[in-house]
Amino acid sequence: MPSYSALPVPPMSIRFDPAGGTLQPEGPTLTRRMSDLDGLFRDHAAWEQAVADGDPVVYSVVSSRVPEVERELPQSITTIQPGATAGELWMTKGHQHPNHQGEIYLGISGHGGLLLFNGTETEWVDMTPGTIGYMPPGWAHRSINVGDEPYSFLAVYPGGAGHDYGWVLEHGMGRRVLSGASGVEFVDYDAS
Ligand code: PA5
Ligand code: MN
Repeated sequence: MPSYSALPVPPMSIRFDPAGGTLQPEGPTLTRRMSDLDGLFRDHAAWEQAVADGDPVVYSVVSSRVPEVERELPQSITTIQPGATAGELWMTKGHQHPNHQGEIYLGISGHGGLLLFNGTETEWVDMTPGTIGYMPPGWAHRSINVGDEPYSFLAVYPGGAGHDYGWVLEHGMGRRVLSGASGVEFVDYDAS
């Protein structure tokens, strides 16, 4: 398993391959299957069925070797597979930064969206290759694949920001993103 660089991190060149969605030299890779998204899909029975039907990989996150520690600036590439469960488009878990700090995503390939929620308001940033989506401090964020091919983006974030997944389980994300007859549809988070 490749690992983060030891501190202090030296100046380095990091190459990303847009076609392969990889970073070289590579750091840790995270794979999230359907079973890792417990409590996040609106239709719990459909989620359970998807887990039983092979527990597919929903997304993966490959990181560079820059560590997630204060004052460092790590990067990662997330690739979300296309799909929907009971109409809800495949997505990342979503999280809040417990240490409120900003972050950017750069669209690399495919078509996605960035759903932002600050506990009151919801915002949506359409993400295509070349789009930079900016997350201000205090906005929880989730990425969604709205296309029919894998959606990949590069994230660059303060190493001390952290990932609070419990915040989304407690507060939701304001809206859900569904595959509708005429395209992407948004519904209230708690609508059934
Ligand atoms: O730092 C980020 O915001 C991203 O790298 C995400 O962690 C990544 O897209 C995976 O999403 P999540 O952490 O919500 O599972
Ligand atoms: Mn983040």
